[in-house]
Amino acid sequence: MGYVLAIDQGTTSTRAILFGEDRAVVAAGQEEFRQHFPRSGWVEHDPSDLWSTTAATCREAMERAGVRAGDIAAIGITNQRETVVLWDRKTGRAVAPAIVWQDRRTAEMTHELKEQGHERMARERTGLLLDPYFSGSKLSWMLDQDGLRERAERGELAFGTVDSWLIWNLTGGEVHATDATNASRTLLYNIHEQQWDQEMLKLLRIPESLLPEVLDSNADFGMARADLFGAPIPILGVAGDQQAATVGQACFRPGMLKSTYGTGCFALLNTGERPVLSENRLLSTIAYRIDGKTTYALEGSIFIAGAVVQWLRDGLKIIRHASETQALAEAADPHQSVYLVPAFAGLGAPWWDPDARGAIHGLTRATGPAELARAALESVGYQTLDLLEAMRRDWPEGEADTVLRVDGGMTASDWALQFLADMLDAPVDRPKILETTALGAAWLAGSKAGVWPGMEEFAQSWKLDRRFEPKMPDDDRARKIAGWRDAVRRTLTET
Ligand code: G3P
Repeated sequence: MGYVLAIDQGTTSTRAILFGEDRAVVAAGQEEFRQHFPRSGWVEHDPSDLWSTTAATCREAMERAGVRAGDIAAIGITNQRETVVLWDRKTGRAVAPAIVWQDRRTAEMTHELKEQGHERMARERTGLLLDPYFSGSKLSWMLDQDGLRERAERGELAFGTVDSWLIWNLTGGEVHATDATNASRTLLYNIHEQQWDQEMLKLLRIPESLLPEVLDSNADFGMARADLFGAPIPILGVAGDQQAATVGQACFRPGMLKSTYGTGCFALLNTGERPVLSENRLLSTIAYRIDGKTTYALEGSIFIAGAVVQWLRDGLKIIRHASETQALAEAADPHQSVYLVPAFAGLGAPWWDPDARGAIHGLTRATGPAELARAALESVGYQTLDLLEAMRRDWPEGEADTVLRVDGGMTASDWALQFLADMLDAPVDRPKILETTALGAAWLAGSKAGVWPGMEEFAQSWKLDRRFEPKMPDDDRARKIAGWRDAVRRTLTET
């Protein structure tokens, strides 16, 4: 009875991970789904793919483990954040393709709102910026198509981030809800008052009847229908994927910091009970809301991290497997200063330049695949440094830990983590369990169900795999960082 099923609905694949009572992974299912790029800068998903891969991977994990639904105490959901789904309340069918967080189609809309002077108000209320990244402008754009706004005003439609869409489908349309972390990414939610913000709804012309109920991250989100998996299973935990990773990394004390390296990189610093409003273009967001108590975080989001290695493989074709980058980086000529600024989709924090595009600086005739691979891995370290420096400036009085907990695909590379520690001039900790996102969602659900321990015991069970200590001489470090800053300056469209 003590199993916990975590659903991790990500940007490129959906996974279901079944954990045992001892919190070890018992089995997993995974499916990739199609990405749609109908125009330059547009990224869409088919909402029915998000749901069908969720149902299929849950069944796959259960079958692999030989576990029946009746043995599962709870489901926890974690998801790609900000992505917008709009559906018909009666038929339960989506009325438009999902607009994905990476989609830049509302750049002009958010730019105009900024020009009209609305950014300060948006920032103070939601903790976010007027950028196409967040759900609000995407939903507003969607409502302008095909008479959808009129239908929304008549109360016929429902909006949700991906978690809400999955909850709706799992419960057969019984529950229309989200959790506070996902709500805090919409640009529509007041993170201080903990409710949908009337001013933001007005600014973006969003009818309130569209919105889901906002619950704690550990709460009763209804029952997954019996006919889906053979027996009903309660849904007891929900958090956006970066917040779930913060929980899975047990960053429960103010000052604790994690950074996840997937397609992009997202660093979250726990700032405790009060949100810290950034002066350095970071985001203030809800880290988690557990048992009615909200914990906030400062977040730095980089859009391209692991994706730069994918580009070496699929775009440049200079490697066949991501793991080859490490040997190449080690073999690179130490006398060449090549910098790769991976602004493939603009630059995120702390620059927020949606129009910037990638650039390579310092090429010579001697530059080859090894130097490019090293520059790609190094770009991730430099970008993390930029985030952490902005965090330190924003929260000088905070007891920001000097240790960074990392997870995600790229952390398999010892070379990348050593470089990261060298750039940060601080230790970097890689945990034994790298499934931190799924683990975080599972803990929210499992502890709510009473089959997993409370916060303190869970935090104590976090185990270190390896600590990377900085060892680069100060002069080398300073020279390399100065070169990076110069390369970024030359890449930005506005200075
Ligand atoms: O904010 C976007 C983030 O939640 C996406 O994460 O892991 O699906 O790329 P991921």
